[in-house]
Amino acid sequence: MDLRKYIRDIPDFPEKGIIFRDITPLLRNPEAFKLAIDELSRKVENLDFDLIVAPEARGFIFGGALSYKLNKGFIPVRKPGKLPFTVISEKYLLEYGTAELQMHVDAIEKGQKVIIFDDVLATGGTAKALKSLVEKSGGEVVAMVFLIELTYLNPRNILANENIISLIEL
Ligand code: PRP
Repeated sequence: MDLRKYIRDIPDFPEKGIIFRDITPLLRNPEAFKLAIDELSRKVENLDFDLIVAPEARGFIFGGALSYKLNKGFIPVRKPGKLPFTVISEKYLLEYGTAELQMHVDAIEKGQKVIIFDDVLATGGTAKALKSLVEKSGGEVVAMVFLIELTYLNPRNILANENIISLIEL
């Protein structure tokens, strides 16, 4: 099964000039969704880590399933104003515009090993912000894992020295 068949390109969304990679066809197909989770899980199952950290919105869908399958804790990272307890924040650049992400201040204990997960690695700005949040908490990022990597945006340039694992390269 070729998972690429289940990723739909939407031109000019959310802005002109951006091709949005729509993963909803993959999510609605149980075999494709299961295969994606199983393959992602195989790529990280031998790593030593405690937690999966993922941002809303689509990072939650895969990150949650992956956490369940691998029996790891899940840390949600959210847009400003959504988390109820004390937060730490990180501002960052997106492929389109700027943004800010927040995580609970006590989500990660000092020295805990963490995998960052997101559905798409585009410019790498989100992943870099996630790493900053983890490190502000005293955690250690052992890998950054993605369903899709947009290699033509060269995200690895700003994520030098990271252990980057992606399932599908576009
Ligand atoms: C998308 C995607 C990643 C991010 C990747 O999220 O889900 O989180 O962009 O881009 P980057 O590598 O250039 O930072 P989006 O901003 O669409 O947010 P959403 O998932 O809440 O819709």
